[in-house]
Amino acid sequence: MTIELSDFLLSRKQTIEAKLPQYINELEASNTIKEAMLYSLNAGGKRLRPILVLALLHTYGKREELGMATACAIEMIHTYSLIHDDLPCMDDDDLRRGKPTNHKVFGEAVAVLAGDGLLTQSFSLIVNDPYCSVENKLRLVSELVKAAGAEGMVGGQIADMEGEDTVLTLDELQSVHENKTGKLLQYSIISGAILADAPEEDIEKLRKLGYHLGIAFQIRDDILDIEGNEQKIGKPVGSDTLNEKTTYPKILTMPGAKAKLEEHISQAKDLLENLSVQSNILVQICELIANRDH
Ligand code: IPE
Ligand code: IPE
Ligand code: MG
Ligand code: MG
Ligand code: MG
Repeated sequence: MTIELSDFLLSRKQTIEAKLPQYINELEASNTIKEAMLYSLNAGGKRLRPILVLALLHTYGKREELGMATACAIEMIHTYSLIHDDLPCMDDDDLRRGKPTNHKVFGEAVAVLAGDGLLTQSFSLIVNDPYCSVENKLRLVSELVKAAGAEGMVGGQIADMEGEDTVLTLDELQSVHENKTGKLLQYSIISGAILADAPEEDIEKLRKLGYHLGIAFQIRDDILDIEGNEQKIGKPVGSDTLNEKTTYPKILTMPGAKAKLEEHISQAKDLLENLSVQSNILVQICELIANRDH
């Protein structure tokens, strides 16, 4: 049975958005921190990473409920990374997900702590997941640390900052994109496959697929920073230029960046053809990542 991507995206987004605040509301914590965490978590966004977790369970014919805790954990980490990315000491942006950034509303100190709170809470979701085996929890946590920490997203953010005001080589830029954005997106795919008990050979192919999709996703983000519509992307256009970032369009020109994006998408699609299962949804998600306007 094939399912329309738009139906899949909308219904899963709704399920995730209903679940996310529950994990924060139930905390015995100060109202200030809960309010600041909920502000960014409830602000919207595409929810692509948690949707990918559910899409993997769907692909392997498993109950998507099995992926909900990990899916929400990833969205919490992603949201924390955006709160910190927007701070004056980083990209210094005032708009995110169509709303004033967290520090504009709550101040910098609370914004830093809201990010810290979301990051820490995310691990609790996985550890306390009632559906997941202890063995899978350990694997999920250990892969998450690699994807989100100094060897992954945090490392990529450092490299991104250190690259400001200088022009990186294409290889250096590829490594920044792979880490700052690619690793968490790749983790969304791998974790879904682990939770679905997918064959190990598939998991390794999906790891490669996640690598290509992660880089493609950030190339599209760089393109939208120039060609995007602020209303649609919900964040300022031109932030990279203002911060003198090296981006794909800057190194390769706009047509070159678009061609590179297509290369990664086509490699991702080739990998999908060799999985033990067919995934119409994942093929459609590849196309969405290539063409998205927000
Ligand atoms: C923005 O991510 C930051 C990057 C890693 C490029 P998204 O484009 O997924 O942002 P939301 O979650 O939809 O707001
Ligand atoms: C940030 O990349 C990636 C992370 C938050 C880890 P960007 O700085 O390009 O993201 P946007 O454009 O502000 O969403
Ligand atoms: Mg940034
Ligand atoms: Mg930014
Ligand atoms: Mg960007």
